[in-house]
Amino acid sequence: MILDSVRRLISRLLRAISTLLRWASVGLRGLAVAIDYLRLVLLDYRSRPDDVFIVTYPRSGTTWMQMILYQLTTDGEMTIGHIAEVCPWFERAAVNRRDLEKLPSPRVFKSHLPYWFMPKGKGKYLYVARNGKDVAVSFYHFYKSHFRYRHGFERFFKDFMRGWVVYGSWFQHVRGWWKHRDRPNVLFLRYEDLIADLEGTIRRIAEFCGLPIKPEAMPRILQRCSFDFMKQHELLFDHAAEVMWERGFTMNQFLRTGRMGDWTAYFTPEQEVSFDQEFQHRLGCLGLSWDGQMGQSRNPHTVSGQGSDQSPQASPRT
Ligand code: A3P
Repeated sequence: MILDSVRRLISRLLRAISTLLRWASVGLRGLAVAIDYLRLVLLDYRSRPDDVFIVTYPRSGTTWMQMILYQLTTDGEMTIGHIAEVCPWFERAAVNRRDLEKLPSPRVFKSHLPYWFMPKGKGKYLYVARNGKDVAVSFYHFYKSHFRYRHGFERFFKDFMRGWVVYGSWFQHVRGWWKHRDRPNVLFLRYEDLIADLEGTIRRIAEFCGLPIKPEAMPRILQRCSFDFMKQHELLFDHAAEVMWERGFTMNQFLRTGRMGDWTAYFTPEQEVSFDQEFQHRLGCLGLSWDGQMGQSRNPHTVSGQGSDQSPQASPRT
């Protein structure tokens, strides 16, 4: 108990220091990132035996795995705000201040951490590798669409080969995890295995994680993990949407109902009276009204069935 309080105190202190560093200078950002990472791994993250980490080099099928695990661990309803809601990005919790302790078990995280940076806890690690050539092309397009990358593939390819891209060298990343593929808590998979045999690979994943699949659930899982289904719900998976979701934005709410009169379900009688009085006061003398059809006005310069000299009555609950 006392240890817990001390741990929390040190964590808060480090968070304050990293925030100060970020404010102080852009040059100190690297130090702030290092402090945030150490805080997350050493103080904030408390490993549980049923934790599952989906680990990949970026653009290797991470999101696909998130959807598979989401379908395996729940009834897979698509009512989530973003896949990060149920399967957060582990290392991002260092900066977005998500409290990982509040997540129900089994927790499923996504991570792009190389083997040596990954906290070695009691949980399981699902590593997915994808053909590096396809990764390079996919990453290039991601850079263009999400990082406003202006150069061509030739330049990107050179940087990719040197490891001068986010998360460093693909070669080192894959090598680091491949060397530990035989550990009992590591399952090394390939993106290409998912493409070749989705059902079989899902069964391997479920068995490794100790997640039973009801026979009637498999068709739903396969359908929802298909590329076409995920493409239809792309906003629930997009990284840009994740950042917006973290900031509290709700996706797919911009075009909401497209109906008129929805206000009646929301306004109290007092709010209605208040609105009508303000309407009368500010617009009443102009002959504008929401009663009847536009164009019925006797006066061509008004839009209601009333003359411009008449005060429109905002009819109740229409
Ligand atoms: P492409 O850019 O080649 O299309 P990550 O989630 O690690 O960023 O990986 C993204 C890549 O996985 C993208 O590759 C994406 O299309 C692919 N992907 C995501 N869901 C998929 C699915 N259901 N089936 C096949 N590929 C999928």
